[in-house]
Amino acid sequence: MSHFRYWNTLAIGVSMLAFPALASEPTVPPEPASFKAQAQISYVPRDAILEFKTLPVYHEPDWVTEKFVKPGKLPAVKDRLPKEPLVYKTGNMPDGIGVYGDTLRHVIGGRPEGWNYSGGQSQGYGGIDIGLSECLTRTAPLFQVEATDVEPLPNLAKGWEWSPDGHTLTMHLIEGAKWSDGVPFDADDVMFYWDDNVIDSNVSPLNGATQETFGVGTTLKKIDAYTVEWTFKEAFPRQYLYAMAYGTFCPGPAHILKTKHPKYANTTYDQYKNGFPPEYMNMPVMGAWVPVEYRPDDIIVMRRNPYYWKVDEAGNQLPYVNEMHYKLSTWADRDLQTVAGSADFSNLEQPENFVESLKRAAQDNAPARLAFGPRLIGYNLDMNFSANGWGAPDARAQAVRELNRDEHFRKAVTMAIDRKKLGEALVKGPFTAIYPGGLSSATSFYDRQSTVYYPFDLEGAKAELAKAGLKDTDGNGIVNFPPDKAGGKDVEITLLVNNAYSTDKNLAEGVIAQLEKLGLRVILNALDGNQRDAANFGGRFDWMILRNRSELASVVQNTEQLAPVGPRTSWNHRAPENGQVDLMPFEEEMVKIVNAFISSQDNAERAELMKQYQRIYTTNVNTVGLTEFAGALVINKRFSNIPSGAPIFMFNWAEDAIIRERVFVKADKQGKFELFPEQLPGKPGGPGPMN
Ligand code: GLA
Repeated sequence: MSHFRYWNTLAIGVSMLAFPALASEPTVPPEPASFKAQAQISYVPRDAILEFKTLPVYHEPDWVTEKFVKPGKLPAVKDRLPKEPLVYKTGNMPDGIGVYGDTLRHVIGGRPEGWNYSGGQSQGYGGIDIGLSECLTRTAPLFQVEATDVEPLPNLAKGWEWSPDGHTLTMHLIEGAKWSDGVPFDADDVMFYWDDNVIDSNVSPLNGATQETFGVGTTLKKIDAYTVEWTFKEAFPRQYLYAMAYGTFCPGPAHILKTKHPKYANTTYDQYKNGFPPEYMNMPVMGAWVPVEYRPDDIIVMRRNPYYWKVDEAGNQLPYVNEMHYKLSTWADRDLQTVAGSADFSNLEQPENFVESLKRAAQDNAPARLAFGPRLIGYNLDMNFSANGWGAPDARAQAVRELNRDEHFRKAVTMAIDRKKLGEALVKGPFTAIYPGGLSSATSFYDRQSTVYYPFDLEGAKAELAKAGLKDTDGNGIVNFPPDKAGGKDVEITLLVNNAYSTDKNLAEGVIAQLEKLGLRVILNALDGNQRDAANFGGRFDWMILRNRSELASVVQNTEQLAPVGPRTSWNHRAPENGQVDLMPFEEEMVKIVNAFISSQDNAERAELMKQYQRIYTTNVNTVGLTEFAGALVINKRFSNIPSGAPIFMFNWAEDAIIRERVFVKADKQGKFELFPEQLPGKPGGPGPMN
């Protein structure tokens, strides 16, 4: 099989490393301390979860009927629902059919830029955009699907079929579903997202969907109001069904967004992006809750979407929970409030909070349950690999990028990192593991024997640095650029970090201190979430510390981000405007492997390809891995229908994996947290909820 020829290049790459000057040789990473996931998953086939069908009767909360339907403010529930709603099967609901009421209280550390997700605006993360968006397919719940049956679940696309040659995929959209303002959802929404956001290069949707996300040369066209047709260059690229899930194919409301898009209105792209600021209330969504109140640095409140298109088997329109809060605080506060009971949900992902949270959760009167999952949270140091202008570097930054592209330099950096120490600085105990970078050790595609680890070895690191041409010419302890680069000055490297997470900052501080011993001056550039993202996507960084995304945690989700397969698919190596990605030879190999993986139908071949990928990645230090650990899902005990073993992160975050629209609170456990009881979303752009 043609893909296996990569082994040859690899063998050479590895043997060349084994020069005798090193005190330590590259090896496989040490076996991590055993850490047992606490919650067991009961695996099911995909079709056990949901189906699309008409039910004989539908229900809604009584107050909706009384206050809104009877006085004629809202059509009857059966007329608000699609012909065949999405029906969750009772057998897959851990506590069965639920009851209406109560509030799910989230806390987030991000802040909303506005509601234009298609235009690239963040809503502040922590599950807020995940809940607003509905996407063609859905993958987060797949954590519980039997391995042999894992393929994206239908969602806005209720079904699809492939042409016999595998180049055409016909997708059938849910029929008669409506946006939260009652306007029909159809293929025009899908086409507006594709043509005027994904394909229009002036727009970059949040999470960075570009044409290449769906394959070079892929096209999409409307067949009729409820049918769209994809064409692909490759045959049967089933992999792209994952790109049609969150966060790269979740269409926004075309009827609203078009009023500000330059193609349809007399506006600029900037006015489009920023046309729906956080103060704009009742933005139409396909998700289960609609934003009705925003108080800066305080809270975003959402109320149930009266047009939501999903039901349970008894015909109850979902969601069960009436209101959703996003308190605008910090990520660390999310942990604290959730274990204390003043909030309901946290992904415990910052190890600095593990010990305290565990102690509190172990008490009998603890308000929240806490369960650790697999070691799926990882951190890497990514270097900017563009030497042809992405982000317009000055002379110093350009010289750094040339270093970043030097394998001796990357080896020097990775060998100078004491990962045990980095992990223990976050939390003591069996939590963190040595992570050389690359695929997460908890994915099914991970193979330890294909993972190359350069152990901590400061002297060996210094030898590599010398090979990269760096010497401390002025004797101040910091190596200098060669005289013809950046004026021969001290090597100074900026490290972009998300200011909103203590873990990111603690790791950065550890890296800075450890690399000073190597003779590199690394300078912290800690920015708040949205600015950090802008610096990243604009290419304005030398190095950055990045928490792993789902391509490393699941492989099958965001697969195109595993290598620079397109001009804008990679996190640390993109093309400058109108340019090409200046790939290094090992990156070209990775691109080939990823493309082969995407078009392969053969599971054994795919597993083999990922071994090769991992070997090339880690041999060449594509990124400098830092640490890996498990996260714990913390949820208030009053909630029912929380699937056991939901990882905080895999295909997507736990906010989506737990299927919030099915979550409920038993009548005798309901709290009085609703701020807008018995109210529903009002008019788009209007003042707030309606009474
Ligand atoms: C942030 C948080 C994660 C998760 C995601 C959801 O990144 O740190 O725990 O809530 O948002 O998008």
